[in-house]
Amino acid sequence: MKPKIVLYKALPEAELARLRDRFEVSAFDGIGPHNRADFMAALTEAEGLIGASAPVTTEMLAQAPRLRAVSTISVGIDQFDLATLNRRRIALMHTPSVLTETTADTLFALVIATARRVVELSNLVRDGCWQGSIGPEHFGVDVHGKTMGIIGMGRIGYALAKRAHLGFDMKINYYNRSPHQQAEAQLSATRMPLDALLAEADFVCLVLPLTPGTERFIGREQFALMKPDAIFINGSRGKVVDEPALIQALQERRIRAAGLDVFEVEPLPGSSPLCRLDNAVLLPHIGSATHETRLAMVRCAVDNLIAALDGDLGRNCANA
Ligand code: DGY
Repeated sequence: MKPKIVLYKALPEAELARLRDRFEVSAFDGIGPHNRADFMAALTEAEGLIGASAPVTTEMLAQAPRLRAVSTISVGIDQFDLATLNRRRIALMHTPSVLTETTADTLFALVIATARRVVELSNLVRDGCWQGSIGPEHFGVDVHGKTMGIIGMGRIGYALAKRAHLGFDMKINYYNRSPHQQAEAQLSATRMPLDALLAEADFVCLVLPLTPGTERFIGREQFALMKPDAIFINGSRGKVVDEPALIQALQERRIRAAGLDVFEVEPLPGSSPLCRLDNAVLLPHIGSATHETRLAMVRCAVDNLIAALDGDLGRNCANA
């Protein structure tokens, strides 16, 4: 008899077929009020769980006494009840390496878009408001040659630093628990305390994972330390920032602009004050959202689940 697994995201046919070869699959396209009861019922027999985005709660895990491995199609693991997974020795597999470069591309897109006011000025043209040559009230600021402060020098932080330093001749400062040898040797990056980074950076880029220790890591006090011309980029998780404090800093022009791919509540409600700020560039959490990378993530997550249920945790286990 094949082991039973639950899938809670629609997958490309070929990847679904790979799962069906090995497992008896109960497949759900997301988890919502329409399918929650069936999803919970399927969990009672499941040895594996694979999907993305939806929070996997304590209540769901309690429904799944036979669960041995969870495979998320993401690098982030903040949507899981880690304490329960750890206590029950359920492997949590994720996709850390396949999305690094794509996510760094997205962050750099936000750097350019905010500095050069790409969205705001594109809207000006579309709205038929382009009259004569553009004056200083519409000028942006340079990116090349500036200082980027990266908070969290992991894989994505390093990939962003490479783009900034090698492509745009930027000076890289970073804040991280431990030194990043490669960034220091190859990109002349300087590790520094957070306050010093905030005070020096023209672009403050947040790439920290969300953990109990990083919730609201950047708030009023940190925005106050930034330069009035600083641009703040968040590509980690919305909850790492005190969003009302960010909104206030943008409204009062205490910082120049923000480029945000993540929000405290997602999808961001249209009623958020952020939606009315022309100095905020807002993306719908698309860090890794390219055809190539999303497919690579699915393949990686399927491989991870197959391996984990075979007892091989490899390098992609987040709680080994
Ligand atoms: C990730 O992989 O964690 C991305 O943020 C998508 O959720």
